[in-house]
Amino acid sequence: MEHVPPQRDLVPVDPVRPSVERLAELGARLRDGALVAFPTETVYGLGASIDRPDALRRIFEVKGRPPTDPLIVHLADPGDLAAGALDAPVSDEAPGGGTAGLVRDVAPAAIALADAFWPGPLTIVLRRGSRIDDAVSAGGPSVGVRVPAHPVAAGLIRAARCPLAAQSANRFGRISPTSGADVVDELGRWLGPCDAVLDGGSTPLGIESTVIDLTGDPTVLRHGGITVDDIESVIGAVHAPERRVVADDQAASAPGGLLRHYSPDTPLVLVEGDRRLADELAAELTERGVIAMVLGLPVEPTEAARVLYRTLRDADAGSAQVLLAVVVDPVGLGRGVNDRLFRAAHGRVVDDVTAATVARVAGLVRT
Ligand code: TXA
Ligand code: MG
Repeated sequence: MEHVPPQRDLVPVDPVRPSVERLAELGARLRDGALVAFPTETVYGLGASIDRPDALRRIFEVKGRPPTDPLIVHLADPGDLAAGALDAPVSDEAPGGGTAGLVRDVAPAAIALADAFWPGPLTIVLRRGSRIDDAVSAGGPSVGVRVPAHPVAAGLIRAARCPLAAQSANRFGRISPTSGADVVDELGRWLGPCDAVLDGGSTPLGIESTVIDLTGDPTVLRHGGITVDDIESVIGAVHAPERRVVADDQAASAPGGLLRHYSPDTPLVLVEGDRRLADELAAELTERGVIAMVLGLPVEPTEAARVLYRTLRDADAGSAQVLLAVVVDPVGLGRGVNDRLFRAAHGRVVDDVTAATVARVAGLVRT
């Protein structure tokens, strides 16, 4: 067997044709209860076997994540959803390579969405099956499932021979990782000697999956890689609230709605206007002795999504005291990008450069 370096060194893996032997070793580690971070088409995930409660609990420690926030179950093949609906005891002969007991009642809408968008960046929330640990569903009645469209992710799930509960491999509330090195920066010192971080290059899409809840009226809980228009073209009208924000103490009943998320350490402000307005604000701040930087995000939404987290991370590492981001066109992936920016800005939005606005933004800088 190929040697996999111990501890939290990056384990290089070909993103298109990952080594079968390497994945086999990592799959065995996952079965033994290790955590493995791996690339998906959206962002890097930190994964554990859904059948290892010890490993599931450790994900929360490594991420610093509150137990009220559920994990997403990652499957290798779209057909595993229907197989996983058989709420039967787990056995090696279970259909779909061991996916029984994941969910109950797979509604026709779920099958239609899975057919249309899996493998791909769509997480479908359904009623949880008997095999789902409380840690995965945060004690709630539902579970989110998705099939990632990335050869490394799919190969790793197959090698583990069980679904993987995974979530973005960043510390809670921080910027999501889009490279193996980002994962090591975020989590390296919390990972243990048996855990591993795969390095399969940059993730192609750049923002997380769309999350749709099908346990009641179809509702988009998080905008992401599959647009609302795409979804509505398959199952008809859905609820898709803009800027869904929940208070910290309600996080358990409405996971993922927290205002502070995807955040750099440097204060960020979202400019609802064009680049010129942001440049004007930056110039006013400079006059007050505040080092402000306007993020150089592409205007085109798909391109903006691809480089969003890299741009935030690089800007955060620079010398700016305040970061200004300009909203992107709210079409296609633009809704997902703007949602991330809104939360990264902790809801701080400006749309003018009056003296009051300049003073408010300057006031964010710690002196
Ligand atoms: O693209 C993605 O989805 C990435 C990659 C790694 O697959 N994963 C990801 O995981 O973004 P995470 O943990 O950062 O975000 C998962 C979010 C939760 O915060 C919550 O908003 C939602 O998915 N979610 C998961 N299970 C849910 C459930 N049962 N009910 C409601 N929301 C759920
Ligand atoms: Mg996340």
